[in-house]
Amino acid sequence: MSFHLRINGRPCDIEPRAGQCLRTYLRERGWFGVKKGCDAGDCGACTVHVDGEAVHSCLYPAFRAEGRSVTTVEGLAGPDGELHPVQRKFLDAQGFQCGFCTAGFLMTTVALEQEKGTARDDGKVEDLPRAFKGNLCRCTGYRAIEDAVRGVTHTERPRAGEAVGKSPGAPAGSRIVTGTAWYTFDVEIPGLLHMKLLRSPHPHARILAIDTSAAQRVPGVHAVLTHEDAPGTLYSSARHEHPAQDPDDTRVLDDTVRHVGQRVAAVVADSERAAEEGCRRIEVTYELLDHVTDPEEAMRPGAPVIHAGKGAAERIARVENNVAGEAHGETGCVREGFAEAAVVHEATYRTQRVQHASLETHGCVAYFEPKEGGTGERLTVRSSTQTPFLTRRALCALYGLPEDEVRVVAGRVGGGFGGKQEMLTEDIVVLAALRLRRPVKLEYTRAEQFHGATTRHPFTVTIKAGARADGTLTAIQMRVVANTGAYGNHGPAVMFHSVGESFSVYRAPHKKVDAFSVYTNVVPAGAFRGYGLGQVTFALESAMDELARRLGMDPLDFREKNIIGPGDHLTGPVGEEEDLHIASYGLAQCLATVRRAIARERPDDGVPPGWLAGQGAAVAMTATGPTGGHYADAAVTLLADGTYDVAVGTAEFGNGTTTVHQQITAGALATTLDRVTVRQSDTDVVRHDTGAFGSTGTVVAGKAVLLAAQALARRLTTFAARYTDVPRHLCVLGADAVDCAGRTLTLKELHEAALRGGGLGEVSAQGHWGGSPRSVAFNAQWFKVAVDPDTGETKILRSVHAADAGKVMNPLQCRGQVEGGVAQALGAALFETVRTDERGEVTTAGFRRYRLPQYADVPRTEVHFMETTDAIGPLGAKSMSESPFNPVAPALANALRDATGLRFTELPVTRDRLWLAMARAAGRA
Ligand code: FES
Repeated sequence: MSFHLRINGRPCDIEPRAGQCLRTYLRERGWFGVKKGCDAGDCGACTVHVDGEAVHSCLYPAFRAEGRSVTTVEGLAGPDGELHPVQRKFLDAQGFQCGFCTAGFLMTTVALEQEKGTARDDGKVEDLPRAFKGNLCRCTGYRAIEDAVRGVTHTERPRAGEAVGKSPGAPAGSRIVTGTAWYTFDVEIPGLLHMKLLRSPHPHARILAIDTSAAQRVPGVHAVLTHEDAPGTLYSSARHEHPAQDPDDTRVLDDTVRHVGQRVAAVVADSERAAEEGCRRIEVTYELLDHVTDPEEAMRPGAPVIHAGKGAAERIARVENNVAGEAHGETGCVREGFAEAAVVHEATYRTQRVQHASLETHGCVAYFEPKEGGTGERLTVRSSTQTPFLTRRALCALYGLPEDEVRVVAGRVGGGFGGKQEMLTEDIVVLAALRLRRPVKLEYTRAEQFHGATTRHPFTVTIKAGARADGTLTAIQMRVVANTGAYGNHGPAVMFHSVGESFSVYRAPHKKVDAFSVYTNVVPAGAFRGYGLGQVTFALESAMDELARRLGMDPLDFREKNIIGPGDHLTGPVGEEEDLHIASYGLAQCLATVRRAIARERPDDGVPPGWLAGQGAAVAMTATGPTGGHYADAAVTLLADGTYDVAVGTAEFGNGTTTVHQQITAGALATTLDRVTVRQSDTDVVRHDTGAFGSTGTVVAGKAVLLAAQALARRLTTFAARYTDVPRHLCVLGADAVDCAGRTLTLKELHEAALRGGGLGEVSAQGHWGGSPRSVAFNAQWFKVAVDPDTGETKILRSVHAADAGKVMNPLQCRGQVEGGVAQALGAALFETVRTDERGEVTTAGFRRYRLPQYADVPRTEVHFMETTDAIGPLGAKSMSESPFNPVAPALANALRDATGLRFTELPVTRDRLWLAMARAAGRA
């Protein structure tokens, strides 16, 4: 039988393998614009057209495309490269962040616009919630996508030297909308081998024996790796500048499994199918051990000890009680504080396990490249990581490799949100690559993301807060229990952070905390947007609202009375962080913004008849960088063609740092953006970068870029003066020209003259920044909601977010970060839950069972930026990637309290929970 189809107009007659889906068929032909998000037809990242109809290519058998015409995102542009009008609209509106979902949205939109009856004369698609039911975006909150589809243009083209504070588009924008931005696996590597992992079916067991002989005999299998092949070194999968922040409790492959889904063995084979078959043939003999999934039970005497044999040397606080880390502290005397209080609120709040659900799953590929000069080989690891430099450091420590023998590089990363501040795949892939001296790839499936990646830490927070009759807070006391799961990666650090800025934002004279990060036999938790603050803020801001209501005060008045002011010290019960300052203060402005939003509101606007209406707000404060040091190096070079090259270590995963670094450079060198190219996230590019986490892309890496660009500007100025023998400042005339003593030189001429003169070498300059001292950013969220008392359905009628980001470097991008953060937080507040059974096994391992916010779920949030300028951040900027998440859940709970009279203490507040609570209160259930 002859097989034939056309792909983007080109004939193809390669027959698919039996059972092959169109997605893998297209990617194997090099059409990398077709992405893998779920392989289950839920996310739409793989959407292509077959004879003009949009299909999920992961579900579409390749054989069914016989005789048809297939179009991928790469085929949308015209033959001369002119963008399709829909691509142009997504580019102009910046309808993307990481861009991993963008091809799918583009293909769906184009098909809809072509579909009769869904397009109006002006080409605008109606009923977008229906249209985008099959496409998920985890980054944007969908409003930028809506703007793109409706043709709203936002991007600006700033003049030379005026880029900072404007909204130019991302440098990678045209590559994203054409499907040519290369993510981790969008590369062809000859001789590539595939890895699959055998995972534990037991929550806690000792491996007595593993028989790999049958697996070794599977045709195409090259290696089967078990704990006997792995180094005995203990480490943490969490990546921090200082590894001592995390307990060393993990092995590449361990002889004890501590959660269902822990990796037991790895099979490397010619194909994924052979590797999977190899996994099925491995026989493991386990000795089952008692397990515990509840952190309170885990701390009780007699509970199963999850990390028996480890202890202080591995930085585990109390191994016998499964306590990975703990913090205790008191300022003042809370007993006295509560004695002074007229009202006291005491309650226990619970938050759930949530998944990052970045559309690009975890994974990496390791391969060898010839060293420069042709003497031997060097290992390259291409990974979907937020921390290339720290991952290199950890790999070198694990395998005894010198750092100059290892290169770690991230392509464009398809979403991270903290989940890729881990080393979850690189360690085992490098083990195989070193063993086989062949390129090896491991790409997690969507199910593996749930069983083998990390989650947000579930918290239980018991809070007691008291206030005088005039609304003055007297005391706040909390007991915080964070479930870190089977391993302590980020566990103690998240716990410490959660009780830092959350407490400090209020002035109560008496504060006390007891906090625990506790091991259980459940999939490990890790870093996730907010780093623990969101969980504690849910409890604290609910408690503040409750105190205000009991005192008969307006909750905003109550907050205004008790929040810190611009001159205050940031004091919490676990000790001051000495490098943390209020270097700019926008919290009062945030509250004033919320007040103005309320003033514009009429109580019944938009409320369906018979529904209950309510409104609520919450505030949050977060440090502009992580504790313990965060370092970035950058280099800016004037190239021979008169353009600038920026080399910076931090990764781009949709947070927009590339655009900001380009803007900063163009501003400092008074040039246009098109003359600045950014190279990044490659350990060969610069000396060191701690990584893209803790919202540091602008305030740490951006500051290093600023320092480098300013240093280069000074060198050029000095040279210009020396070149003309006239001491004067560099005077920029336009995009690329300088005035040297009345003579106009292009930068290219200046550069050539510099090289001839030999005085400037490469005309390059370095910048370094260490992330300390740090400032704080502020956020306030307000919702108006309506609740159907008969069904529990919640409608968000209005969402307002006030953000104090200091000097906003790129308002369009920053707004996108806020919208995306609010959307993620709404998912966590309303329905997202990683469910586990009594053995701790995740039972929601896919997007059909783990519900992400869809287009229809996310309201448009009005985003307002405060007018502040930070004394520490680069050009006055503060961070704004993580912090919008934190006040959302309590603002929603406070609005629901206002609407229903009921205080919701457990997330998510699902429709059935809401209905049940209302029915119980009404005596109906
Ligand atoms: Fe949509 Fe990242 S931009 S998933």
